[in-house]
Amino acid sequence: MAEKQHTDMTGQDAFAPIANHYDAIMEHVDYARWLHVAATLGEMLPPGFRHLDAGCGTGVLIKKLALYGWHSVGMDYSHGMLHVARHRYALPRLVRGDFRALPFSNAFLMITCLFDSLNFLLEETHIEQTMRSFHEALQPGGICYFDIVTERMIASHFNNTCWTEDHGRFRSSWTSSYTPQTQTCETRVRINAGDESITYERVYPAAFIEAAACQAGFSILAVRDAATWRAPQKNTTRIEFIAVKGDKNRYRQAFKQVDKIIKRG
Ligand SMILES: C[S@@+](CC[C@H](N)C(=O)[O-])C[C@H]1O[C@@H](n2cnc3c(N)ncnc32)[C@H](O)[C@@H]1O
Repeated sequence: MAEKQHTDMTGQDAFAPIANHYDAIMEHVDYARWLHVAATLGEMLPPGFRHLDAGCGTGVLIKKLALYGWHSVGMDYSHGMLHVARHRYALPRLVRGDFRALPFSNAFLMITCLFDSLNFLLEETHIEQTMRSFHEALQPGGICYFDIVTERMIASHFNNTCWTEDHGRFRSSWTSSYTPQTQTCETRVRINAGDESITYERVYPAAFIEAAACQAGFSILAVRDAATWRAPQKNTTRIEFIAVKGDKNRYRQAFKQVDKIIKRG
């Protein structure tokens, strides 16, 4: 793969060609589960806490969390995705930016960064910057709930494959290829005969992500397989992390209960 192709989200709006159709394309995605985990974690925090959804996309999660009375700010790099969040969901607090350098300090008690948004960072240093940036944006005791997809996910579903999906009013055509040497996956998506969205995602070992979070000052409350809410295994396709700014022991007792509730589903 030529170097030019390995571009991260910044410097372009790779999601723009599909932003208007993104929610319909992702209709099958289990947002209800992320909502359940986030809402359950939120019960450990004082009422009225401030939340940032980093890489909020079209704002689907924020819209759902509003039903729980959450005060959320959405931030994303893509103008296209934010446009949908603003106009379709009328979300009032949206910021365009790069989560490697958030314009916030000591501002939130909860950050979510879900649906593999971190995998769009293509350099290890970018993950490290992002962990520092999340840490800075949180208040002491703040919780960061984020996920990554694993090589197993990419190898099983996005390895040199192409397919078309019929969404009723439109069709999406997908081409995907994984380069094991760079651990990077290129995905091309086209709506009908429109422009192509070309994105790159890189997979990282969970141990690297954990180390980057700890170096930034987080302590790790839990690392879980998203499907089973148990410790990740070889066949895990998505890993979720719950990190705390400062000492995780402040949540030790409360998290025992939360852990059970999340596992029950
Ligand atoms: C797969 S989408 C997930 C969106 C949303 N979290 C959801 O659950 O629907 C990944 C999102 O991450 C955003 N993103 C990727 N890299 C980013 C960066 N460095 N800074 C901010 N947003 C970024 C993209 O613009 C995109 O909206």
